[in-house]
Amino acid sequence: MVIYHLSTECYPIAKVGGLADVVGALPKYQNKIKGIDAKVVMPWYNKPFVHEHEFEVVFDGFIHQGSNMLQVQVMKEKTNVLGFELYMVRIPGLLDRDNPYGYQDESFQFLAFQQGILHWLCAMELKPDVLHCHDYHTGLVPFMVEHCPEFSFLQGVKTIGTIHNGEYQGMMSWSMANYMPSFDAYKWGLMDWNGFMNPLASMIKCSDAFTTVSEGYLEELFISFRGLESLVRQEFGKAYGIINGIDAEVWNPETDPMLDFNFNSKNAVAQKKKNKEKLCKEYGLNPKLPLFAFIGRFATEKGADLLPDVVWKSIKQSYGALNIMILGSGNTYIENKLKEYDYTYTNFALDLGYKEHLSHKIYASADFLLMPSRVEPCGLNQMYSMRYGTVPVVRYTGGLKDTVEDISTGGAGLNFTYPGVDDIVHAMNRALGIYNQKGIMEELIHANMNFDFAWEKSAEKYIALYNS
Ligand code: ADP
Ligand code: GLC
Repeated sequence: MVIYHLSTECYPIAKVGGLADVVGALPKYQNKIKGIDAKVVMPWYNKPFVHEHEFEVVFDGFIHQGSNMLQVQVMKEKTNVLGFELYMVRIPGLLDRDNPYGYQDESFQFLAFQQGILHWLCAMELKPDVLHCHDYHTGLVPFMVEHCPEFSFLQGVKTIGTIHNGEYQGMMSWSMANYMPSFDAYKWGLMDWNGFMNPLASMIKCSDAFTTVSEGYLEELFISFRGLESLVRQEFGKAYGIINGIDAEVWNPETDPMLDFNFNSKNAVAQKKKNKEKLCKEYGLNPKLPLFAFIGRFATEKGADLLPDVVWKSIKQSYGALNIMILGSGNTYIENKLKEYDYTYTNFALDLGYKEHLSHKIYASADFLLMPSRVEPCGLNQMYSMRYGTVPVVRYTGGLKDTVEDISTGGAGLNFTYPGVDDIVHAMNRALGIYNQKGIMEELIHANMNFDFAWEKSAEKYIALYNS
């Protein structure tokens, strides 16, 4: 069975968040299953990976976007170094950029990506069994495959859409239809939602099946989905929740080259302490105090706006008996407020930016990982922290609900239900109580490290879905 994963991100080439981690791992694990040939197609980016690896041009052609003629090149990485065939679509001016997102003309960028992929497959007569589309950036592919005559060669190819984040739907004005490959006008409703072209809604309508990255998140979409609630209820017959795994080859504390002191579950307590001491020294924190960490985008869905108040309140309430470290960026107001506290409190350390190495060190060093998310379709941070023996303190929502069980019901993490400052600080106080009981803390470290988040099980679930 031949599967093409279509995505704007893929680790280690271009990563903004968890989408990259999933697309960089899932195909690799699917390829370990007999009879499966999973490949990845992504845009070409001006990133170190493309300059450090050899590529060959496997396709060179043109597409039309309105009256513009765009050159499309498809480049294949020569050695399958990532454990799957990697194809990068290059379109000068649109798909040759430094980063996946943040450009004014991204509607054109993503349309061209989708059209470029389908044009290449048709021109080269490549007919996969499944086109697996990730998020709204590839959400129009199921429509295009079935309803654009230009791609009739692909008609009947099965399409799966995975919703990693329903907060972003890619809505655009109907004037963008002029830049679509031609389609029968009476089918416009398959792309419409409330008077806009909505790629995510179209993916739900037109795919053979769609998935969310946890069961908990799927249930929540029926109630809260930025306007698409009734659509997901109507289409629930083809909806599946499949939890993400983690790439245990990349995220292995025993072999992770980004750590100062590697460890396994036998020597975790001592080695984590050494990692923590080193990190605390670098950031001017007292290593004797419990360390709470937050890593992530400063977005309201992550509850990042609550962090400044959490910092001062938890430090004040505990009389300075804890440390907090935050790694992230994304909102100037939050960044400035946190900078101010970084200056004010010796118990607080801040690193603004995106730093893969530092994130690994923090997962390995912290005692607790905070995730006050308002929305969390799956969440990978909690799983990475658990694998690195760090106790997750998470809001009870989406994928966090499915992966972190509270210690009071036999789990090895801490839950709170409301994303508010008092509730978070209350959960942190519970954590402090646990931290002071060495025996329990050590048990939690081991229990978390031994959780099984391997991709194998979920990779099998996707294959079963393709087969069905
Ligand atoms: P999302 O994709 O919504 O941001 P996930 O929990 O699925 O959330 O994945 C986030 C990924 O991005 C994890 O691999 C996490 O370690 C990483 N990450 C987030 N922010 C940073 C940062 N500032 N520096 C390094 N890694 C980060
Ligand atoms: C999205 C979600 C996150 C999920 C990731 C990978 O970015 O916000 O919760 O873990 O996709 O599926």
